[in-house]
Amino acid sequence: MTYYNNIVETADFINNFYGEKIDYAVVLGSGITLELEDQKELHYSEIPLFPGNKKDGHVKGHANKLTFGRISGKTVMILNGRLHYYEGHSMKDVAFMTYVVKFMGIKGLFITNACGAINTNFSEGDIVCLDDFISLVSDNPLIGPNDDRLGQRFVDMTTPFNEYLVENLNTSAKEKNITLHKGTYGFFMGPYFETRAEIQAFKTMGCDLVGMSTVPEVIAANHASLPVAVLSCVTNMATGIQERKHDHEHVLETAKFISANLKTLLTSTLEKLK
Ligand code: HPA
Repeated sequence: MTYYNNIVETADFINNFYGEKIDYAVVLGSGITLELEDQKELHYSEIPLFPGNKKDGHVKGHANKLTFGRISGKTVMILNGRLHYYEGHSMKDVAFMTYVVKFMGIKGLFITNACGAINTNFSEGDIVCLDDFISLVSDNPLIGPNDDRLGQRFVDMTTPFNEYLVENLNTSAKEKNITLHKGTYGFFMGPYFETRAEIQAFKTMGCDLVGMSTVPEVIAANHASLPVAVLSCVTNMATGIQERKHDHEHVLETAKFISANLKTLLTSTLEKLK
């Protein structure tokens, strides 16, 4: 079985399971939760070709299941939990579900994540809509022979984030009085939190935020011409910018707190989308 065949088969499997056309997909990062009306669930372990089933890379804060249902009249699939590169998964495995979303015929993908802020105009609890990214990891899901059925060999990254989705997020944020910042995300391999010197280096490079996920999926989405937008939740200030030490429990607590605003923002945005 090739990567492509596994993607198409998984897309068909999930579409058959839900039995209804799905409009949009949302990836939820560490600690972030979202409930749906008429919710239906499918655990990743029940998806025969899901790459994460090969090894247990479970991270606390991730439920590891798909949930399906309605928000604002749209059918939505939520991916609760994702595979991370730092867990030892290959970039292609990390990107697998993004291609599945594309081949299910879904119109767009919203990705959320927990991150640290380097830009001191941001504070803990803020939501940042990504405008650009810097990959600090020397690997990505497009390395190797290109499968033209997934996308073209050389991918343009002038606007990695879909303008229509971003515009609607900004309009909704204004309407709901939620501050939505704009920034550049630095993708760090982890799983250790960055050193002070690394953060200073990333700041000089132009990173406003730093985190350990999302960019492989964004690259795959651009490869597959799947509209994508990212909402990064600032769960802490980056190393050396905050005085206290990092801990994952704090990340989860803050993410949970941000979930309420995130839900308002996504609900209002989905209402506006075609
Ligand atoms: N660094 C990297 N990843 C993160 C952080 C951070 O400070 N906070 C949440 N995820």
